[in-house]
Amino acid sequence: MFNTGDPNVKKLVFGSLRRVALAAAAVTAAGWVQAGEVEVLHWWTSGGEAKAAAALKQQLQAQGHTWKDFAVAGGGGDNAMTVLKSRVVSGNPPAAAQIKGPSLQEWAAEGVLANIDDVAKANQWDSLLPKVVADVMKYKGSYIAVPVNVHRVNWLWINPEAFKKAGAKVPTNWDEFFAAAEALKKAGIIPVAHGGQNWQDFTTFESVALGLGGGDFYKKALVQLDDATIKGPTMTKVLETFRRIKGYTDKNAPGRDWNLATAMVIKGEAGMQLMGDWAKGEFLAAGKVPGKDFVCTHAPGTAQAFTFNVDSFAMFKLRDESKIKAQKDLAAAIMSPQFQEVFNLNKGSIPVRLNMDLSKFDDCAKLSAKDFVQTAKSGGLVPSIAHGMAVPSAAQGAMQDVVSQFWNDDRMTVQQAQERLARAAKTR
Ligand code: GAL
Repeated sequence: MFNTGDPNVKKLVFGSLRRVALAAAAVTAAGWVQAGEVEVLHWWTSGGEAKAAAALKQQLQAQGHTWKDFAVAGGGGDNAMTVLKSRVVSGNPPAAAQIKGPSLQEWAAEGVLANIDDVAKANQWDSLLPKVVADVMKYKGSYIAVPVNVHRVNWLWINPEAFKKAGAKVPTNWDEFFAAAEALKKAGIIPVAHGGQNWQDFTTFESVALGLGGGDFYKKALVQLDDATIKGPTMTKVLETFRRIKGYTDKNAPGRDWNLATAMVIKGEAGMQLMGDWAKGEFLAAGKVPGKDFVCTHAPGTAQAFTFNVDSFAMFKLRDESKIKAQKDLAAAIMSPQFQEVFNLNKGSIPVRLNMDLSKFDDCAKLSAKDFVQTAKSGGLVPSIAHGMAVPSAAQGAMQDVVSQFWNDDRMTVQQAQERLARAAKTR
C-alpha cells in the first residue's frame, strides 16, 4: 500500500518534514507547541480494516504526532462501545472514538464531546459534505465529529467459481436467491457464509426487509418504528424469509466473526455472504480481484435502494494543549482528499467527501457512488439499523436481541417475533 512510488506517501513524508521544522520554530505565549499524542478508539482489526486504520496512523505520524492505538476487536463495535463507556466514566476518554449516527447526539448530550467548529470552518466542511451527513456530525449546530466514509450495507458477495461448479445464477430477488442456495447445497458447498452475532443477524434481516418490502416499508417499519407496520403482513413475510436463510448456513455459524465468514467465500468453501462492503476490504486484502475472483451485487431485490452506514470519529474534550492540537490535526486529516482516497480504497467504502476523483476505485465502489447519488434523489437511500444509523441505541439493541432470538430459536413463532419486535421498538 505504501510503496515508495506512491505520491501520497511522498506528500506525507515531505509534509511531515516541513511540519517538524515548523513545529520547532513555533513559539506561542504558552510556550513551545509540541507534537502531541492522539489516542484513537476503533474496532478495525480484520485484514482490510487494519490496513485502512493504518492509513490514518501513517498520516498522523507524518504530522509528527504519536499514534496511540486503542483497538477493541469485535465487528459492529459492541465491545468497543462497552470499553469506551468505562473509559469516559472514569474521566479518561481517548482523543477520538469511532461513534456513529444517533449515538453521536447521545454522547454529545453527556457534555463529553469537543467542539471542532474551528477545524470545520478552516477546511470548509459544510461545502464538502452531503448536508444529511454534516447534520449528523453536529450537536446544536456545532461539529463534534468527523465522518470517514460511506459504507453500503445491502450487498451480496459471491464466489463465481463456486457458483459455476453448482450451476447457480447470480440472484436478483429472493426466489432466485433460494434457487442459487439450493444448487450450491446440492454441489456440496455451504450456500451462505454467516456469523451468528446479533449485528450480523440484523445485517441480514434488514437486507431481507428492504428487498421484500422496499424503501417505504423499510422506513415505516424500521426507522419510524410504526407499530402497525411492524405487526403487519409484509413483516410476516420478511421474518419467514429471514428464517429460511438459516437453513442454508453451516452448523459452525454461531458466534463466528464476519471476516471469517468472508474468508469462507474467498476460499470457495461457501458460495455467498450478505454483508456490507467492508467485506470487499477482506477480498482485496487477500489479493482478490473484483469481477474476476469475487462478484459484488445488490442484496436480492434491493437494486433501487441503498442502506448507508457512515463511519465517523467523535472528538472528546481534552485538557492537555498538545493533545488538543493533535486531535484537531486528526480531524483535519480525516477529511483530507489524500486520506479519504487511501483509506476508502482499503476499507471497501467510498469517500464521504464530495467531488472526489474515483479513478483509482473499482467497479463495486463506482456503482456504490452512483447509487448513493441516485437513491438520495429517488428516496431509496435508507439508514442501516444494524450499524447504528437509524434509531436510538436502546431501541436498536432491543430489536437486535429479538431478531437474533428468533433466528436462534425455531420455537418462536413469526407472530411472537412481530409482537416482541414492536415492543422492543419502544425501548428508550
Ligand atoms: C461496522 C463499521 C464498519 C465495519 C463493520 C465490521 O459497524 O461501520 O466500518 O468495521 O462494522 O467491523
